[in-house]
Amino acid sequence: MNGPRQPYGRLAIVTGGVKGIGAAIVARLADSGFAVAVLDRDPAGEDLPCARAYRVDVADHDRVAEAVHAATAEFGPPAVVVNNAGWDRVQPFVENEPELWQTLIGVNLVGVLNVTHAALPSMREAGGGRFVNVASDAGRVGSSGEAVYSACKGGVIAFTKAIAREGARHGVLANCVCPGPTATPLLESMRSDPATDKIMEAMVRATPLRKLATPQDVAAAVGFFAEEPGHVTGQVLSVSGGLTMSG
Ligand SMILES: NC(=O)c1ccc[n+]([C@@H]2O[C@H](COP(=O)([O-])OP(=O)(O)OC[C@H]3O[C@@H](n4cnc5c(N)ncnc54)[C@H](O)[C@@H]3O)[C@@H](O)[C@H]2O)c1
Repeated sequence: MNGPRQPYGRLAIVTGGVKGIGAAIVARLADSGFAVAVLDRDPAGEDLPCARAYRVDVADHDRVAEAVHAATAEFGPPAVVVNNAGWDRVQPFVENEPELWQTLIGVNLVGVLNVTHAALPSMREAGGGRFVNVASDAGRVGSSGEAVYSACKGGVIAFTKAIAREGARHGVLANCVCPGPTATPLLESMRSDPATDKIMEAMVRATPLRKLATPQDVAAAVGFFAEEPGHVTGQVLSVSGGLTMSG
């Protein structure tokens, strides 16, 4: 197998890599020759094709820093960091409790800040690297029942662009992939509610390609940003079957 097609090293950190889109990203990057370190709150990482699995809640700043530093000590500075971990509960905003907001913000926004903050210094010192942040089309166009989640994902998109600007002179590139509805355990858990399931069916009907994305569809876009030659930064790519065509 050839090594990864980019110059900064071989460590790829993937958050939320145990299930769904994250597991497909782990497989994609491992196949490209990266040593993949997974940070996930689910302990099932041992079965993945990854070099290391750390049981970490991305919302926990200190545990994230420990895991990122342990992976870096073993494999060198991260060449690629994929902020993929995310979570949502579909509910109208008027029914949301502040406790739910805090959890959503912790996982979907603060988690991205924690991981980026832990990884960025050694990437800058190494002369560069790539961030690929998995946001959502909800962060580009909004989504009913997902107000706080949408706010977090919009925040991730803006954060990614700011890091792309700050990181450019250090060789650090940052881009976002925005999945549309994708067949994963997260989507399945939402579909267990009949009202949400109806919304999902309507979304598939409204999708020009008339189908859900697969985790592998999203992983292919992540793989592109992880390994393209190095002149794409601050960009947002939807993988949504054409559901959103945001300019
Ligand atoms: N599935 C979709 O339709 C869809 C659409 C748009 C965006 N997304 C985004 O794609 C990403 C992956 O979603 P998915 O559908 O694969 O979800 P999933 O629930 O199937 O898998 C998420 C993974 O992240 C882990 N995780 C969740 N919270 C965590 C935390 N606090 N700390 C560490 N690990 C945590 C879970 O254990 C799991 O392994 C998320 O950021 C999600 O918001 C998904």
